[in-house]
Amino acid sequence: MANNNSTGTAQAPSRMCTHNSHVRKVGIFGTGSYVPDKILSNADLEKLVDTSDEWIQTRTGIKERRVKADGISTSDLALEAAKKALAAANMAPEEIELIVVSTVTSDNYFPSTACHVQRKLGAVNAAAFDVSAACSGFIYGITVGWNMVSSGAFNNVLVIGAECLSTLLDFTDRNSCILFGDGAGAVVLKETTGKHQILFSHLGAKGDVDVMIVPAGGSKLPTSHATVDERLHYIKIRGREVFKFAVNKMTELIEDAANHLNIPVSEINIIIPHQVNHRIIESAAEKLNYPMEKMFVNIHKYGNTSAASIPIALDEAHSSGRLKDGDVVVMAAFGAGLTWGSCAIRW
Ligand code: UT7
Repeated sequence: MANNNSTGTAQAPSRMCTHNSHVRKVGIFGTGSYVPDKILSNADLEKLVDTSDEWIQTRTGIKERRVKADGISTSDLALEAAKKALAAANMAPEEIELIVVSTVTSDNYFPSTACHVQRKLGAVNAAAFDVSAACSGFIYGITVGWNMVSSGAFNNVLVIGAECLSTLLDFTDRNSCILFGDGAGAVVLKETTGKHQILFSHLGAKGDVDVMIVPAGGSKLPTSHATVDERLHYIKIRGREVFKFAVNKMTELIEDAANHLNIPVSEINIIIPHQVNHRIIESAAEKLNYPMEKMFVNIHKYGNTSAASIPIALDEAHSSGRLKDGDVVVMAAFGAGLTWGSCAIRW
């Protein structure tokens, strides 16, 4: 039965993943991220659609985003992030036993982007598959990787969030084309004695499938001249609806995480939210009475990179020294599906 939390929203159920002491503790041993060199600024978008730098910055906080070059695909971005994560973990590709790539912009329908990464990386001993949960993808992916290591099924797992969303953007639709960008982030998961330990995750979904969708190109409406003419192979979003959902869901995910950690929200050292819109992050911080300085934000540089958004932010938070040993880190995301998830780490 639905119940109401302090945000006043009907609370949809989330599956909570938590472990008993008999399973292995799992930690993040390396992080990495990569974005393409090419910058698409708000000024560039002014030349394509009826918009302005002022509108985009005020309504979203985005100043610019990265877009891939011709001939580059999601696995190329994923590969670069993976190489950095492996270097940080001081591991060779051959040591990886499983590659999980979270993406909605796979190189091909099949094979999976994870298999492309495996080949390019030379991770010859790895199993590989993709996870599709849109902007929540990395939280879903890290939950899978964590459980695979925790259960003892695999020892060394590479989890990547990677997207080339520019390939799904209609650069005649100002409602969507200003929001998204390309990029990738990766983590290496292994058994830990306690450092950088994943504590739990919450996952959820609610089949509101039309709020954000690419209508054509799948089995329901295969690509045809007509679907291309009607521009149905591009992202369609109902932004205002997502905005309301996002503020409430982000607030709820963080409150739930704090409750599960048995601490007040104020004791979370850093929150790494999905980089969806600066106003959404600010509104959630305000509702939670949580200082914006402790919210990690890099949306101004990259826009919304979907499944790549949180691992890029995690890597930047780590490499910029924002994460201190023992910090409680909470990551929270939501996306098309609708899907959502949070994950807590003791750094
Ligand atoms: O990860 C999940 C995917 N992300 C999302 O789905 C995004 C979530 N939603 C949002 O971030 C915000 O809702 C948007 C940034 C998309 C839109 O901001 P808003 O404050 O909700 O604007 P709005 O949709 O209420 O539109 C306000 C006005 C409209 O004009 P009228 O009807 O007031 O005359 C829009 O047509 O702004 C207009 N507008 C624009 N104007 C200039 C919409 N897009 C643009 C634009 N440039 N790019």
